[in-house]
Amino acid sequence: MKLEGIQAVVFDAYGTLFDVASPVAKMAADLDGKGEELARLWRQTQLDYTWLRSLMGVHDDFWNVTRAALDQTLAALELTEAGLADELMALYLKLDAYPDAAEALKAIKGKSRRTAILSNGSPSMLDQAVRHAGLDKLLDQVLSVEDVGIYKPSRRVYRHAMQKLQIHDAPSICFVSGNGWDAQGAAHFGFQAVRLARRAEADEKLPGKPAARITSLTELPALL
Ligand code: LAC
Repeated sequence: MKLEGIQAVVFDAYGTLFDVASPVAKMAADLDGKGEELARLWRQTQLDYTWLRSLMGVHDDFWNVTRAALDQTLAALELTEAGLADELMALYLKLDAYPDAAEALKAIKGKSRRTAILSNGSPSMLDQAVRHAGLDKLLDQVLSVEDVGIYKPSRRVYRHAMQKLQIHDAPSICFVSGNGWDAQGAAHFGFQAVRLARRAEADEKLPGKPAARITSLTELPALL
């Protein structure tokens, strides 16, 4: 299948271009065999806090939210080694990009489509991750929810991308996310969303139907 009329391809960052499990994997030896649980619970708590803060109307940036979620998770798992949280947070600024990210971005630019990130990440976090992974030259814009003051999947965030890209009809944007709730939020907003499911995962029982489902970013250019 082809997605018609796409002017720009906009990517979620964490869990889509960048592997959020990589800090924990690098520190596995220090985690008493609790690495997998830490990675899973840290990520879930991080997302929960973004949604809870958005509902409470009390925004804080993704760096602080990520640290708060980490402190909460380390305490819950009784991982108390001094300096562990600082080390894990430092690694969050140097996340591994998934190996398919750079090639996909190159191929999309080769098809004369604009490329961007739209992420919960703060501008400074995104800037460091993008440069560390060498993706800076392959992205036309890096957009953060910090300009809006609320987290995805608020419609205000997806609208922000349209404003920044100066694209006036939502279906001209292809939005790619490895987070099911984000792909569905973007689809419900009106983007042509692509759900990246690197592992077999069912759709969320939520509104919004992505236009396509892929298992690797290498499948993306052929959709354009
Ligand atoms: C982001 C989160 C959803 O990058 O992973 O926006």
